[in-house]
Amino acid sequence: MTIVKKPVKIVETVLRDGHQSLAATRMRTSDMIPMLEQLDEAGFFALEAWGGATFDSCLRFLNEDPWERLRTLKKHLKKTPIQMLLRGQNVLGYNHYADDVVKEFVKRAVGNGIGVIRIFDALNDPRNLEVAMHAAKESGAHVQGCFVYTISPYHTTESYITLAKELVQRGADSICIKDMAGLLTPYAGYDLIKALKQEIAVPLDLHTHYTSGLASMTYLKAIEAGVDIVDCALSPFSMGSSQPATETMIAALKGTPYDTGINNDILLPIADYFREIKKNLTASFNLTNDINVDTRVLTSQIPGGMMSNLLNQLKEQGMADKFNELSTEMPRVRAELGYPPLVTPTSQIVGSMAAFNVILGQRYKVVPREVKDLARGKYGRTPVPVDPEFLKSIIGDEQVITSRPADHIPPQLESLKQQLAENGYPNASIEDVLSYASFPEVALNFFRENRTVCM
Ligand code: CO
Repeated sequence: MTIVKKPVKIVETVLRDGHQSLAATRMRTSDMIPMLEQLDEAGFFALEAWGGATFDSCLRFLNEDPWERLRTLKKHLKKTPIQMLLRGQNVLGYNHYADDVVKEFVKRAVGNGIGVIRIFDALNDPRNLEVAMHAAKESGAHVQGCFVYTISPYHTTESYITLAKELVQRGADSICIKDMAGLLTPYAGYDLIKALKQEIAVPLDLHTHYTSGLASMTYLKAIEAGVDIVDCALSPFSMGSSQPATETMIAALKGTPYDTGINNDILLPIADYFREIKKNLTASFNLTNDINVDTRVLTSQIPGGMMSNLLNQLKEQGMADKFNELSTEMPRVRAELGYPPLVTPTSQIVGSMAAFNVILGQRYKVVPREVKDLARGKYGRTPVPVDPEFLKSIIGDEQVITSRPADHIPPQLESLKQQLAENGYPNASIEDVLSYASFPEVALNFFRENRTVCM
């Protein structure tokens, strides 16, 4: 009997999600450089290194140009593609951009060194991914269409298969399941992957977080079900709210048909190095080093960081005793708003609405702008349509948007350039224009320290 080999590929996240999850995204380019050649040799499918938070952190906290970081990484990483995470039409931010910004951003990201672009949308509305996916394809990148995993009466295996197919139709070279809260259980994961593998021809990637303590078990069952790629973080930046450890996964699969072929021995010195980096970052930025498993997310679906934010909001109002009420209000609001997955920015939108309802003691007495916009389709299609009567009660006569939200946004690039010129940067590079588009205030502060003003 011949054993069919099916080596599992690994996306290493130490340069992005690993330190974003466990070190407040504070890793500097200089912390990365000494290990890049070794990481490049290891045989990873991709090295995830770029995304909204890393970009923001470069400009805001580290006085680094994120584009310069990308070019530096590319110089050292000759074999392994650099991967980035893109929020579809939101690019790196929380609001929709015009198509010209999305296209230019993708083009420049690839031009400066990105090889794999993972593209997702908080509402899993494929229309919010299509322009970015098309631009990535045209630029020659590997396009990974991504959907966020959540649990609701609507989110069945069938619904995920439909989504995955839509992403493949739009040109996805692979599909990623993004389980940002660590909700996917091993057996649910097995069934989901098994079903997707029967319907989808492109490779499947699973991205999860250790938050609830399930992640390694889920990966193992997903691998048995045929998943092609799993996202892991080198041990010093693994577990807790990060990914399972790379070395552990490699060891678990060694000698099996799923053997990754990656030699754990060469990862030892790299892990030693990053263990020191983690210690230094924890000390110099005074970070909490909490790697405990938090199983509350399994029932509330509320990501850990958000739980503590909400609790603080209640405390400020002297209403800490209302926390349990808020925990039951959250899922209720989520259902009324059409079961959006709870990921930025929808998690904040649902969370603040629930908090208002509890604090004011009357439901939907005050409705924030973002809640109205979510309900009326400005962020895209909610998984389940919002009940028309309820919708009317919170938006009144405001317009409902049923077409692709960005269709309503006129081009923005020229006016962004104009704004930069008015601030003293008439000759800003296109990369600087895109930094400004992504994080206007933060980028201007960065330019004031690092660019010559020309009035
Ligand atoms: Co993640």
